[in-house]
Amino acid sequence: MSRPQDSFLILDFGSQYTQLIARRIRELQVYSEIHPYHYDLSEIKSWNPKGIILSGGPASVLSPKAYTVDPKLFELGIPILGICYGMQLICHMLGGEVEKADKREFGKAEIEALEDSDLFFGLQNPKALTVWMSHGDRIKKLPPNFIPIARSSNSPVAACKNKNSSLFALQFHPEVAHTPQGRDILSNFIFKVSKASPSWTMKSFIDHSVDKIKKQVGDNHVVLGLSGGVDSSVTAFLLHKAIREQLTLLFINNGLLRLNEEQKVISLFKNQKNMNLKYIDASQNFLTELKGVTDPEQKRKIIGRVFIEVFEAEAKKIPNAKFLAQGTLYPDVIESVSFDGGPSVTIKSHHNVGGLPAHMNLELIEPLRELFKDEVRLLGKELGIEDEFIYRQPFPGPGLAVRILGEITPERLELIRKADHVVVDEIKKAGWYRKVWQSFAVLLPVKTVGVMGDERTYENVVALRAVKSEDGMTADWVPLPYDLLGKISSRIINEVPGVNRVVYDISSKPPSTIEWE
Ligand code: XMP
Repeated sequence: MSRPQDSFLILDFGSQYTQLIARRIRELQVYSEIHPYHYDLSEIKSWNPKGIILSGGPASVLSPKAYTVDPKLFELGIPILGICYGMQLICHMLGGEVEKADKREFGKAEIEALEDSDLFFGLQNPKALTVWMSHGDRIKKLPPNFIPIARSSNSPVAACKNKNSSLFALQFHPEVAHTPQGRDILSNFIFKVSKASPSWTMKSFIDHSVDKIKKQVGDNHVVLGLSGGVDSSVTAFLLHKAIREQLTLLFINNGLLRLNEEQKVISLFKNQKNMNLKYIDASQNFLTELKGVTDPEQKRKIIGRVFIEVFEAEAKKIPNAKFLAQGTLYPDVIESVSFDGGPSVTIKSHHNVGGLPAHMNLELIEPLRELFKDEVRLLGKELGIEDEFIYRQPFPGPGLAVRILGEITPERLELIRKADHVVVDEIKKAGWYRKVWQSFAVLLPVKTVGVMGDERTYENVVALRAVKSEDGMTADWVPLPYDLLGKISSRIINEVPGVNRVVYDISSKPPSTIEWE
């Protein structure tokens, strides 16, 4: 696939923020590609990008093993922006001097722009810009023809440029949210310095991905484990657009799904969109194996193992299946620079389709692996997926099993399904569904005394949980309005047989977790 005319090259030196640079550039509607720092100069020449960004990185240019670029890169006449390590590399390679700073500069800093350069054009309050620093080396002497364009109390050169060419360098990270005007600085590099124009949209992303998927798949067949969550749903739509009947969605009912979930998924993917969906009701397999098990880890292990067995058996039946598609997103991908080569990539096993055995010999297709969650939602919208699927709260792979403490039985599943339905219904009606990360009910393994009518009852307790979170790693409990909590409680007690008490979980993560397991 040919690239759009105005495209940017990001050379990666292993910074944890490299993908954020690409994301910011996408936000500016410009196409970019990330390549390892040793990307071939001849490739760069034949591509002729509008501009090049050298990322940050954990190494020091002073180390004998420092990552470096072909010096001819600086003679191509293409605008270059060095960020952090990228800045030190430019200065080091072009005749300046870099030294170890007395103390590492890490975190928020204030810098003063020294001139109204193209890079800082139009910034507010340029004499006191808040930026995010993270470096241990600093510039001692600039290379010939370079001048400082910003300074901080710690570094006399917080940014610099070459007087005669479009070579710029920043000691701080413009790509992170902690540099509030960083986006404007990147925008200046792209539009003012490199003279690109914005043309890259989510629609272009789709066209580009469709082309790529078609090439990768050829005449073969792709299998996708569909969970009905945002990531696997968007992956399914994108793949379907590209390869239609060469895609089979395996939708496995593990018996731990939410109320009416199977109908919803089948209705959207099979009935409305006519996708090749194979529904496998394996609930009996799962529930039989889970019988009598109360230990949470053991439950997880059983669910994982049975999932693999069922998935594998079904995938084998699909002739010509060569690829396994996964809805892996960028946060699932950890990037690090390997010792001797370019940035290497390790993948965290994906929660939901995780741990599929290597002997299945399926190659991976992960069309969302460069995107962040909010971008996946935008992509889903562009692909015409209805909001109900796009704005779903995350739902764990082991399903309701992690929300039933104690034994999982059909009766207890029935109970939690009904309670969960009430929670989601009321939270949606009150306009809280999209404001929280997750909101759900948990069935506790205790019974309490209650009174209904004139009767004494001895029944189950349901806990409510609602949390705010960015990524599920940390979370705060949400102070939902009392009247909403009251309504949920009274509906659950009235509508769900077997429950006589509802409590609210007011713990954050850490030290608690989101699910109760
Ligand atoms: P915890 O309970 O560990 O959950 O604080 C953090 C986030 O991860 C989700 N979760 C899972 N998601 N498969 C998944 O796909 C799993 O096995 C799993 N376990 C927990 C949980 O819902 C929360 O969003």
